[in-house]
Parts: sequence; C-alpha cells; structure tokens
Amino acid sequence: MKLFGKKEAQAGQLDLTRLPRHIALIMDGNGRWAKKRGLPRTAGHAAGAETFRRVATYCKTIGIEYLTVYAFSTENWQRPADEVKAIMDILEKYLQEAIETMERDRVKMKFFGDISFLSQKLRTLIAETEKISSRFDGVQVNMCVNYGGRDEIVRAAREYAEEYKATGVPLTEDLFSRYLFSAGLPDPDLIIRPSGEMRISNFLLWQSAYSEFYFTDVLWPDFNARALDRALIAYQHRDRRFGGIKEREK
Ligand code: FPP
Repeated sequence: MKLFGKKEAQAGQLDLTRLPRHIALIMDGNGRWAKKRGLPRTAGHAAGAETFRRVATYCKTIGIEYLTVYAFSTENWQRPADEVKAIMDILEKYLQEAIETMERDRVKMKFFGDISFLSQKLRTLIAETEKISSRFDGVQVNMCVNYGGRDEIVRAAREYAEEYKATGVPLTEDLFSRYLFSAGLPDPDLIIRPSGEMRISNFLLWQSAYSEFYFTDVLWPDFNARALDRALIAYQHRDRRFGGIKEREK
C-alpha cells in the first residue's frame, strides 16, 4: 500500500491545518475480506493488523494527536474459540514486533479495556509497550482490547461511588469523565467505521456525544491512507455546532 507523504496530502483537498485532534476507528470487515478471497477469517484479522500499522504510521506522519482503535470488544468473546485465540495471537505478535521497532516508530500506545481477562503473556507485553512508549510524543494510539462502552461507564460509576463514600464530592460530567479509560483526552472528533455497517457497537459511548461519524463500504484490510484522506476531507466539510447555532445566525 502506498503511504502518502505530507506533500502529497497537501496536494489534495485535505487541509492539514484543520485536522481532527482525535480519530477513532472501528476496524470492521476482516472476516468478509478473507471470505471474498477464499481465506480463513483469521487471515482477514492478520491483514487488518497490518492495515492498522500503516494507518497509525500515516496518522503520525500527518500530525494526528490521538488515534483510538477497536481491536476486541467485550462481546467478541462470543466468537468461536479458535478465532478469539487467533486474534489474541495476532495482538501478541504485533506487540512483540512493536516493542522491537519502538525506537524507530515512536508511537505512544495505551490500552483501553479490562485487560485482566487476557493471558499473562499479553498483559506483560501490554505493560511493556505502555512503559517503553510513554516517553514518546506525537501520535498516541489507544488500543481497545476487551473494551465495551457500557462496561467502561459501569466501572467508572463504581469507582466514583467509592470516592463519593469517602469524600462526598458531587458528580459532574467533567469529574465522571476522569474515571473513564480516556481520562484527560479530548473526545474523538471523528469516528470512522468501514465495511458498510452503520452502528456504534458499544464503542466510546460516553465520548462520542458530539463526534462526527464517517461510514465507508471499504473493508478494513483494504483501508489505506487514501481512504483516510477521504474521511478527513468529509470531516472538514462538516458543520460542527455542538448543540449550538452558527456564529452568524446568532
Ligand atoms: C471486526 O471484523 C474485527 C475484529 C473483531 C477484530 C479486529 C482485530 C484486528 C484488526 C487485529 C488486532 C490486532 C491489531 C494489532 C490491531 P469482523 O471479524 O467482524 O469482520 P466481518 O464483519 O467481515 O465478519
């Protein structure tokens, strides 16, 4: 896949001075991509992981600050055991390679979700990845693994309840957001879902209150820099009002 450099992006209609700070991505369509090619679904996930690597690199190149990707949901455990294992193995391999190439790629990585259900090996790799990359600046990738938006909200509510017992501090939206995995980050400006599905699937339920949505029929393994540029250009044509009205209509 060809990666666009900064200059090439500039040559199109993309305005690199008005990029979203935070992009979120639902990496959907791996299974269908594999089926179309007569391959096992797991080959689609492996191709999807490569696409993720390239898209994250492109986001770093053009100067996106935060990229949050949905790798495995709290509902994905319902899939056949061999598919779950294959996804976990792909994640493991990805993290092992990421650790080896981290000094070159310099992508900061964080993980959202309940990782206590993952294997010891995966948890160790996650801890190592987070630790090594914590000193990098540039793009921060938040990888959602065993993540569910409802689960995140329930956990936050439980944690707040504990704090309330001790301090009696009243709840505000701002305070509540500090108990989420995304504490301290700006909400996603743009949420992209490839593969033709138009639903949120328990992703970033709290944080997506005013996100712009972009849907495309491209299957995730076929997604590339050009597809991201198209989403970004569409985003730049949106009129974000956050429930208000335009300045000139006041
Ligand atoms: C959704 O497509 C995809 C997933 C549930 C798994 C996504 C996982 C990866 C891309 C690999 C994770 C690793 C890294 C490093 C990011 P689907 O299987 O639901 O596709 P379908 O709707 O066509 O069946």
